[in-house]
Amino acid sequence: MGKLKVAVLISGRGSNLQALLDACASPGFPARIVRVISNVADAFGLERAKRAGVATQVIDHKAFPSREAFDAALDEAIRTAGAELVCLAGFMRLLSPGFTEAWRGRVLNIHPALLPSFKGLHTHQRALEAGVKLHGCSVHFVTPDLDDGPLIVQAAVPVLEGDDEDSLSKRVLAAEHRIYPLAVKLIGEGRVRLEGRVVHIDGAAGNPAALLNPAD
Ligand code: GAR
Repeated sequence: MGKLKVAVLISGRGSNLQALLDACASPGFPARIVRVISNVADAFGLERAKRAGVATQVIDHKAFPSREAFDAALDEAIRTAGAELVCLAGFMRLLSPGFTEAWRGRVLNIHPALLPSFKGLHTHQRALEAGVKLHGCSVHFVTPDLDDGPLIVQAAVPVLEGDDEDSLSKRVLAAEHRIYPLAVKLIGEGRVRLEGRVVHIDGAAGNPAALLNPAD
């Protein structure tokens, strides 16, 4: 079976893109990135893609009269690249319902919180203010509703005494870099089944132990 062809959409530094590029560099990894698309011309992630020898494309949302027109250009670029799966990796544009419906079950997003908690922006600051003891990140399928689609992989990290937004975001980001490649691997291996809004992973080995914070 051939490798799953993936397009990655970015807007910025692209550290999650880098984690995906690194994973795809392993011979046994079941996916490869066929194109990186940015809506921001000077996004550093474009450099990361070029260094890895992956084709890049800039589609500036400001050049389009509407969200639908921008999304149509994205759709065409993704199809032209031959991508079967789309990974949003710090892509800071909302996608229109037309796009998300057309690509239902084939678009992933990574969000820096344990969804359904803390949808939207400034998740780390809001987690600190809420006083949660566990925070984390989620990879989910994209639906028309913001940060609301079926969850595929999540990672929890502790919120430690003395944490600030910077220290907490670094801990979460390290977990993001583990779960995004894992989610793509599971899909590439054909182990992800979507039933309603619940994702089932064939052959998944979960850790049944509770994660306590503070530790007892
Ligand atoms: C990541 O933390 C990602 O989870 C977040 O933006 C950052 C992008 O970093 N995404 C969102 O907040 C989407 N709502 P990166 O460009 O280094 O991957």
